[in-house]
Amino acid sequence: MMRLANRSVAFWLSSTALHSVSAFRTPLRNKSFASITTALSMSTVRVALCQLPVTDDTEKNHQTAATFIENAVEQGAELVVLPEIWNSPYATAAFPEYAQDIDKGPSRRLLQDLATKHKLWLVGGSIPERTADGKIYNTSLVFNPQGELVAKHRKVHLFDIDVPGGITFFESDTLSPGETVSYFSTPWGNMGLGICYDIRFAEYAMLLTQKHDCKVLLYPGAFNMTTGPAHWELLQRARAVDNQCFVLTASPARAVETTESKKPYPHYTAWGHSTAVSPWGEVIATTDESPGIVMADLDLEKVEDMRKSIPIRNQRRTDLYDLLQVKKE
Ligand SMILES: *[C@@H]1O[C@H](CO)[C@@H](O)[C@H](O)[C@H]1NC(C)=O
Ligand SMILES: *[C@@H]1O[C@H](CO)[C@@H](O)[C@H](O)[C@H]1NC(C)=O
Ligand SMILES: *[C@@H]1O[C@H](CO)[C@@H](O)[C@H](O)[C@H]1NC(C)=O
Repeated sequence: MMRLANRSVAFWLSSTALHSVSAFRTPLRNKSFASITTALSMSTVRVALCQLPVTDDTEKNHQTAATFIENAVEQGAELVVLPEIWNSPYATAAFPEYAQDIDKGPSRRLLQDLATKHKLWLVGGSIPERTADGKIYNTSLVFNPQGELVAKHRKVHLFDIDVPGGITFFESDTLSPGETVSYFSTPWGNMGLGICYDIRFAEYAMLLTQKHDCKVLLYPGAFNMTTGPAHWELLQRARAVDNQCFVLTASPARAVETTESKKPYPHYTAWGHSTAVSPWGEVIATTDESPGIVMADLDLEKVEDMRKSIPIRNQRRTDLYDLLQVKKE
């Protein structure tokens, strides 16, 4: 069996700006983790998955994101992932009020500033975006350490269900779907990007890994209390094993309903459990539902090792079945 990145541990914030930390949590900083930074090989990237506590106050959410990112950087993070919808309540009804211009809005500026300030690869979770023609998208922005926008992903698969006599939920009532397969290049290799529900589509992940050579798939997401326990980890491990790549997810922390909330938006209870999975399908770092940062070191050489030792990529029977878009342009 292969040995994969195993130096991983969840850290817990105790900043006064944030929710206070329960007594059983481990201390804020893990010195031994930070001190191995210099020992990391060139193929290894230290990632931080920020499970932010999100409120209906955009300004407060900005402060939280800034504090968590700072903390992740102190622990040596080179790439930080924020959760899906980290700047607004997680409710489709709230998006028209909270949606921002993605080129000039304050959340975009914050992400860009933080990436530049900390010289960081920053995967900005997702935020509700409003375009000039009034459309709303679920959009993820990625900035490189120079503060340049390197990817913009609009959630591709909208969630519409209409079960007769059961649940009805049309995300497409409020949202428009994205039209691109999104990935970006880093010194460690290409990384692909999807949002939440996108993780259920195996072909999307296959395109990212086979056509665009991604070694890491990133999914900011917020599963609920039914789909979370049943599918969240399973889908990450499935995408990791069938694509022989790392899979990273970042969820918002599970918010508790408070009387503080003045807005009428429906409460969403997120499953949490931001997680990193190796190409072998192992959970290498994860957490529960509380606010916190999940740290993991990903050795991307393990992707090639895995792909060589179980060569499914070369042994597909494309005469029997094929993913048409994989054919090189
Ligand atoms: C710190 O990190 C090391 C190495 O990953 C781990 O063995 C140890 O348990 C961690 N300590 C705490 C307090 O989290
Ligand atoms: C983004 O996608 C999630 C998952 O399907 C959905 O629940 C949420 O409402 C969407 N948010 C926005 C802003 O589009
Ligand atoms: C979670 O989402 C699924 C799919 O929409 C739905 O069937 C289920 O009722 C939801 N569960 C909760 C607890 O909201």
